[in-house]
Amino acid sequence: MTQMSDIAYKRYTAENPDLGTDAVSTEPSRSAEWFESERNAIFQRSWLNVGRVEELPEAGDYLVKEIQVCRTSVLLVRGKDDKIRGFHNVCKHRGNTLVWHASGQCRGHFACNFHGWVYDDKGKLRDVPDAENFYKLDKSSLGLSEVATDIWQGFIFVCMQPTETLQEYLGEIPSLLNDYPFARFSTRFTYEANEQVNWKVLLDAQQEGYHVPYLHKRTIMLSFPKDMTQYRSKSFQTFGNHRRLATGPSKNFETTPTGSVAAKLGPTSVEAFAGAFGDGGEAKSMEGVFDFWVLFPNFVIGLLYGTYFTYNIWPLAVDRSIWEVRMYYPEAENAGQLFSNEYGKVAFRDTLLEDASTHERVQGGVMSGAIKSFHFQDEEIMARHGHKVVRDIIEAFSAS
Ligand code: FES
Ligand SMILES: [Fe+2]
Repeated sequence: MTQMSDIAYKRYTAENPDLGTDAVSTEPSRSAEWFESERNAIFQRSWLNVGRVEELPEAGDYLVKEIQVCRTSVLLVRGKDDKIRGFHNVCKHRGNTLVWHASGQCRGHFACNFHGWVYDDKGKLRDVPDAENFYKLDKSSLGLSEVATDIWQGFIFVCMQPTETLQEYLGEIPSLLNDYPFARFSTRFTYEANEQVNWKVLLDAQQEGYHVPYLHKRTIMLSFPKDMTQYRSKSFQTFGNHRRLATGPSKNFETTPTGSVAAKLGPTSVEAFAGAFGDGGEAKSMEGVFDFWVLFPNFVIGLLYGTYFTYNIWPLAVDRSIWEVRMYYPEAENAGQLFSNEYGKVAFRDTLLEDASTHERVQGGVMSGAIKSFHFQDEEIMARHGHKVVRDIIEAFSAS
């Protein structure tokens, strides 16, 4: 197994000749026209994660997700039959937003606040006030418009214009990850940032370790071996449009005094990145001790021992995105574990803030026109793959 401290050069670009070695154009990260193509060719047609089943535990529970890149609001509701369905959150009378709250309990029905049309938890139109005063009103054809919705491992996905099922979209990923004990990590912390950054620039800042010894020298760098000078991942693999970067374990690392106390009480972020915690079944689904999965286009799952995290990156415009970060821990059973979870939460936040500090600055550099291309080295292969996948899809879409 490759240790992180082993220095190897140009492994991945040699193993993946189709990804090339040239500099990559910045134009797709600054062109409003290109962004419109991404909206139509990528986001409308991809399965997009919008949450987890634990967010709607009871029949009648609902969630509303604003998916601006698809120009819609999606209403997810768990029906009395326990099935989670997705609908465009749009009243069929004249188009008012049906549900205005981000989440709640519908008690079996939703009533539009404009003229009082009522829909049930399966989206059927149940009641129209003063219906006799309409012409040719066929209630049976005026249910809410469904959005394709499916679930994998508790993650809810929707797709506006599906060309394949969620299973087909994920390919071999379920066979690799279905043993990861996602359900065991029931405590969730969420951070959300609204940033002036292109979604790919934001993702690129996350999907490489080249920056770790520099940007994160005071935070997550503590998880790496003391004698490590440059980051080296354990493996990089593509799965169609999806990809994974795995990081190997680190024995020779030095955390902070508070971090080491917190790590004795439960999994914490710096120590988890080093692979310091026992294996509660995670290893069966993992290549390293930190597996960074990018499920195309905008969903990231970061797997560790004892905790995992997700990113959902939601483009708003060519130079604006929302970054949703969720961290999942085992439910605390005592004060020590509570402390450990809270410590892990803020330690991870500090690392993310360092990342975020670069997003808008890089975007500013790209928008200035002073940088025409990105120069990706071998450890930035994930970004190289990401840009190629986007480019290939847009080119095929434009040619069709
Ligand atoms: S727009 Fe909903 S009832 Fe009129
Ligand atoms: Fe980072």
